[in-house]
Amino acid sequence: MHHPVEIVEVAPRDGFQSIAAPIPTKAKIEIIEGLIDAGLRRLEIGSFVSPRAVPQMADMPDIARHFRSDSRARLSVLVPNAKGAEMAMTHGLREIVYVFSVSEAHNQNNVRQSVQQSIDGLANVVSAISNEPDFRLRVDLATAFDCPFDGAVPFDAVRAAIERVTDLAPACEIALCDTTGRATPFAVQERMRAVQRLAVPPSCTWAFHGHDTYGMGVANAFAAYQAGIGVLDVAAAGLGGCPFAPGATGNTATEDLVYAFLNSGISTGIDLVSLLLVADRIAAIPDAKVASHLRNVPRAAMQERMRQP
Ligand code: COA
Ligand code: ZN
Repeated sequence: MHHPVEIVEVAPRDGFQSIAAPIPTKAKIEIIEGLIDAGLRRLEIGSFVSPRAVPQMADMPDIARHFRSDSRARLSVLVPNAKGAEMAMTHGLREIVYVFSVSEAHNQNNVRQSVQQSIDGLANVVSAISNEPDFRLRVDLATAFDCPFDGAVPFDAVRAAIERVTDLAPACEIALCDTTGRATPFAVQERMRAVQRLAVPPSCTWAFHGHDTYGMGVANAFAAYQAGIGVLDVAAAGLGGCPFAPGATGNTATEDLVYAFLNSGISTGIDLVSLLLVADRIAAIPDAKVASHLRNVPRAAMQERMRQP
């Protein structure tokens, strides 16, 4: 018996942040609407970060305002500090993704502070959201496999980070992020199994966030799934790449991973025909760097297969 899968769409955050020229807010909103219409039920719709660090996210308040009372999907935003958490709450979000890196060098490059400072920041975030009932917290552990500056990241460093996170936030979803896309399926399977053997509070759950830089995206996501992980991050059209991780390209394409689950008996709830139309729209954004297999297959040839839920 297969376990369920929850596909988390991150193109509006991990993808849009990789494009320097401002994408019109209206276009961003229409794309997010299209993704929800295609059946995505969890989406990262952007980030509350310093507009100097990521100018593309400067319109986050407008996007959050648009989706303020939207109950069709779980919408979250990435934050690097308590200020971001406060802004998310002010703008009606019910879920945040707090990010820091397991490796010092990437954390410095990404959020301009040490890992210890980020962990202290998580304490502030937990306290900021503590009076909000039913507010969800996810923690993204960036560079949980490999760092663009330091290379391979040892499991001990990941375990230490997880211990600190669960001490501060016993009820959260923790995502191991393959920021560079250099992880391989066996390594993903092993590490995702290993974290599930750690003694963590029962309300702590797991997710995998992979990139397709080396073409391992679907295989890695599937390896995580087979290791027991039900929550998988992807980006429509494979848009993306962390601007603070040199060489990293897009996330695994949502359409490619959804295709992998076809005819498996495991429902993703996503309509591939509609999703591909949104992916096409994303690919047409000027300067968008996309990578998807399914978008290149003639549509008519697989229409019947694609229509299966
Ligand atoms: N949301 C919006 N604005 C924020 C913010 C947030 N979460 N955090 C800080 N700011 C603003 C500050 O108010 C300040 O604005 P001002 O100059 O107009 O006063 C400015 O950003 C700089 O703030 P400071 O606290 O000095 O931060 P910093 O310059 O040391 O940068 C971060 C630290 C974490 C805020 C910044 O590096 C950042 O936002 N990084 C995110 C990177 C990212 O998104 N990476 C990709 C995702 S993994
Ligand atoms: Zn990413």
